[in-house]
Amino acid sequence: MMKLRLFTPGPTMVSPDVLLEMAQPLDHHRTSGFKEMFKECTELLGYVYQTKCQPLILTGSGSAAMEGAILGCCKPDAKTLVCHAGKFAERWVKILKRFKLPHVEYKLDYGHGFKAEGVADMLKKNPDVKAVIFVHSETSTCALSEAQGIAKVCKDHGALCLVDGITSIGTIPFKMDEWGIDVAVTGSQKALMLPPGLAFAAVSDRAWQVIESHDSPSFYNDFKAYKKSQADSDVPWTPNNQLVRGLRFTLRQIKAEGIENVWKRSASLAKGTRAAAKALGLTIYAADPADSVTGINIPAGVEDDKWRKSMRSKYGIHVAAGQGELKGKMIRLNHMGYVDDVDTVGAIAAMEWTLAEQGYKFEMGAGVSAFMKAVKG
Ligand SMILES: Cc1ncc(COP(=O)(O)O)c(C=O)c1O
Repeated sequence: MMKLRLFTPGPTMVSPDVLLEMAQPLDHHRTSGFKEMFKECTELLGYVYQTKCQPLILTGSGSAAMEGAILGCCKPDAKTLVCHAGKFAERWVKILKRFKLPHVEYKLDYGHGFKAEGVADMLKKNPDVKAVIFVHSETSTCALSEAQGIAKVCKDHGALCLVDGITSIGTIPFKMDEWGIDVAVTGSQKALMLPPGLAFAAVSDRAWQVIESHDSPSFYNDFKAYKKSQADSDVPWTPNNQLVRGLRFTLRQIKAEGIENVWKRSASLAKGTRAAAKALGLTIYAADPADSVTGINIPAGVEDDKWRKSMRSKYGIHVAAGQGELKGKMIRLNHMGYVDDVDTVGAIAAMEWTLAEQGYKFEMGAGVSAFMKAVKG
């Protein structure tokens, strides 16, 4: 018998309750029942984002919302600044390049998060920038950027602030309105505890002014089309009905737990995991670690592939590998969504057993014990 536990930072684990909810008979989307469900999801998403904006619910993975955000907010005659220190920031750059949109990159070494002062310096050097894009929690390096400070710098400069919150919204503190963020995107398969297939975008009034001033080159991911339908709790194209049903279920769960308690849970899991790594003599990759996902460096003498494959095949713990240039250098453990202390202590035990298989020297149980003390000490 083997229980699979997904510790990847997306898709994350989905609870059996949610799977059962989505196994209900399919209903048509042009019905009053669907509209009510859609409206409730929009309101609850506003709670998760901490915004009065009505977040859009798009069909597609997070990248659909990224593309829609760029094509709406980054006009062909305006320059965008992209903060780039990881694979997901690189995706934002690729979208800008594909559509030949003017942009400038602000690069930091991988593992570092962006700070307000650095962005302010870049804006001073590039006064014509009209929009700034940054990844709040860079899933590829597990590093956190300073969202609140960067949003303020953008506002002072008069630029729109676009945030990739795909592994931050619903897992670490995120306050769209209070911080003055203009566009924030996420996807269903991370903190929202669903399979992949829905993307979300919350848009400020300031950003709508830009979006409404031109025609987006995208037909399918056109935010204007979504906004128009949303006024009637509807969607422009056939939606992923069953995921919307699941979304209502998971958003109600988040509301019942309280968003601050969700943030605390992820922070505690991350703190415990970092303590466990230290106790095992392992090191954390990110200089500015995020609480949504932890990247642990692979120690000398341990083979990455063998380690991860053994964790999955023997103990059902599926952790993520490093991406791009970080492949073979780290493993990543998720703290978003449907994951708790007991799951995580199990993942640490699996890490220990499989490290021992490769002859890595440590005191068996030291990681588990450090986790237990850090989260309940
Ligand atoms: C920070 C971040 N941005 C963007 C994406 C891309 O989202 P998707 O794979 O849902 O299109 C991901 C997915 O892992 C992510 O973690």
